[in-house]
Amino acid sequence: MNLAEGPRVAIRYLSLGDYEELAPLYEQSAELHAQWMPGAPIATYEDFERYMGRFDGPLHEGFLICLRDTGAIVGRVNVNNIVRGTHQSAIIGYSAYASTTGRGYMTEGLGLLVGYAFGEMELHRLEANIQPANTASLNLIKRVGFQREGFSPNFQYINGAWRDHERWAITAEMTA
Ligand SMILES: CC(C)(COP(=O)(O)OP(=O)(O)OC[C@H]1O[C@@H](n2cnc3c(N)ncnc32)[C@H](O)[C@@H]1OP(=O)(O)O)[C@@H](O)C(=O)NCCC(=O)NCCS
Repeated sequence: MNLAEGPRVAIRYLSLGDYEELAPLYEQSAELHAQWMPGAPIATYEDFERYMGRFDGPLHEGFLICLRDTGAIVGRVNVNNIVRGTHQSAIIGYSAYASTTGRGYMTEGLGLLVGYAFGEMELHRLEANIQPANTASLNLIKRVGFQREGFSPNFQYINGAWRDHERWAITAEMTA
């Protein structure tokens, strides 16, 4: 079921049934993803089942960005580390795929996700952490309206080393 719809894409929850469509997308995107993301969690169906377990509790939610006309998956966004109470915050992680990048789908999809997070999910702040050389991701997050808050040295272990990241965020006030 679509949770929010824009002119070209919609967002919906990720589910176990998406494995068949996702596996080739991850396979074709190994090079695109390697430098910027932790390794793909879905080499086998068993890996994917284990990975899906992270969404059982209240801490993480997984979303897909899909074309409205065909339903084809064009990207994904995770809302991770959800903190309730006086924070109402989370950290997002996202990716497109080799055959779907460079078409504006992620900008539209992330915009929908921000609206859903600040609406139905009742969050107040979303954070994104991006390596300084990841120009495509920095351009994307700026287009969606995030602001740069700072710099986190040695923030995440990716592709064999602890990588510096820029910290970007958006709060509900910034979308009002
Ligand atoms: C980061 C990432 C998600 C950005 O995705 P993206 O495809 O650049 O983002 P969009 O889908 O919004 O596409 C924007 C591009 O489409 C182009 N575009 C083409 N047709 C378009 C259209 N009809 N409407 C809008 N934009 C369009 C835009 O000009 C822009 O290209 P540009 O940046 O060269 O100017 C993608 O590069 C990726 O998956 N990278 C690897 C994983 C990764 O880095 N994840 C983030 C870790 S922090």
